[in-house]
Amino acid sequence: MGKALLYKRQYSAKISVFSLICAALFIASSAFAKEGDIQIQLADTCPPSFSLGTDNRCSLRHMYQLYDSLQDSGIGGLKTALPKARDGFSPQQIDLGRLLFFDPILSADNSVSCATCHNPKQGFSDAMGRSVGINGQIQTRSAPTLWNSAFLSSFFWDARAESLEEQAVGPLFSPAEMGNTPKQLLMSLKNTDTYVGLFKQAFPEQKVPISIGNIATALTAFQSSLISLNSRYDQYAHGYHNALNDDEIAGLNVFRSFVARCSQCHTPPLFTNQQIAVIGTPEPEGLPRDIGAEETFKSKVLRGGFKVPTLRNIAQTAPYMHSGRFKTLKEAAEFYTGGRGHAVPEGEDLLLHWHISEPDLTDNELDRLVDFMKTLSDESLVPITPAQLPSGLSFKHMENSNNEKS
Ligand code: HEC
Ligand code: HEC
Repeated sequence: MGKALLYKRQYSAKISVFSLICAALFIASSAFAKEGDIQIQLADTCPPSFSLGTDNRCSLRHMYQLYDSLQDSGIGGLKTALPKARDGFSPQQIDLGRLLFFDPILSADNSVSCATCHNPKQGFSDAMGRSVGINGQIQTRSAPTLWNSAFLSSFFWDARAESLEEQAVGPLFSPAEMGNTPKQLLMSLKNTDTYVGLFKQAFPEQKVPISIGNIATALTAFQSSLISLNSRYDQYAHGYHNALNDDEIAGLNVFRSFVARCSQCHTPPLFTNQQIAVIGTPEPEGLPRDIGAEETFKSKVLRGGFKVPTLRNIAQTAPYMHSGRFKTLKEAAEFYTGGRGHAVPEGEDLLLHWHISEPDLTDNELDRLVDFMKTLSDESLVPITPAQLPSGLSFKHMENSNNEKS
């Protein structure tokens, strides 16, 4: 699966002895050996799971394309088709997006990159209840995974963005996250020779390759390449019965039963039906109620409603829920059997979804649910973290210093 040619560096090689002597003489001059002299050749092949067309565009290939059942048909059906994915980006755009994603040059003070909060080593999340942005500012919600975001039609817990492009400008210019301004961002990229060359490679036909639109396109291209569809669950769904053991199959059966009803909302194969549901999860101790989608749609009936999150790679992204309120998968599963609305504070009037019921699951059934959710892990297509960033800055991951993880 490894992509050999991800990151080819070519130092401007043809340096004559004469020019070396000149350089030595003019050592104070910045004309030699400055950072911009490093040239990075962007990948010219697609990431694994994509095939390259003659138009230099990458198209996604996956097993679910073999099935033609409609996304909405067959409750809990195992071979349901997937929605159409965002694809069609060039290998160079995807690779540029990868470099941008890890590069803290995108933030106002060069301290935070997308990967700070969406770390590939932590399921593209950050193991925190609430993420931390520049100057240690604590966000109001937890960082969702980015795996399979290519298939999503709305973004953020409250569904307030409709595309990955629209989403990307959120954190870049949010004072609490990366704190940048369009002007400063464009200037810092334009002042980095390496980036000037990279944007030209990724957007060869454009007169002004460095633009906010192209930054969003490259980030979208990269995020759309984060495909996770080869878990043990998928192997089972495609007919390899032994991919799951008896406990896990028992868990799958609880998951899709009309008693537990998990698959009504966490519908396979994406493990989300992409709708908003009010389920009444608790906020962390002492924090105000997060009204969620009520704000987005200015609709009282959506008070406390959140986008049903995917459960893909869920074992990697604790703690759970928009607030990171639950530390373990067992606690998250237990929530559903605690009684309809049990965590809704008094006086708070939430219109709970009708699939939130009183399933009264046994401890054994909860354990089997956890066993099953753990089979949804597949990180085989994890992209390579750049060894060196075009800006010369280094990628730092926020230490897990905060916070209310209970
Ligand atoms: C300071 C931490 C932080 C940084 C930096 C950050 N994010 Fe996020 N990201 C979050 C949090 C928290 C959310 C959820 C916010 C919400 O729903 O209100 C989120 C949500 C998202 C989502 C929506 C996922 C979904 O399923 O709805 C995407 C996509 C995303 N971020 C991509 C990015 C990209 C691209 C960057 C860099 C330009 C970035 N993030 C930078 C913390 C961060
Ligand atoms: C009515 C729709 C619905 C049903 C039924 C449902 N869920 Fe959820 N699930 C959601 C929503 C919405 C969230 C996010 C809620 C929040 O953040 O407050 C969620 C969150 C989760 C999370 C945390 C995901 C994350 O990324 O943090 C897990 C785990 C989970 N559900 C498992 C289950 C299990 C197991 C069942 C069955 C017992 C189930 N769900 C039934 C809608 C549903």
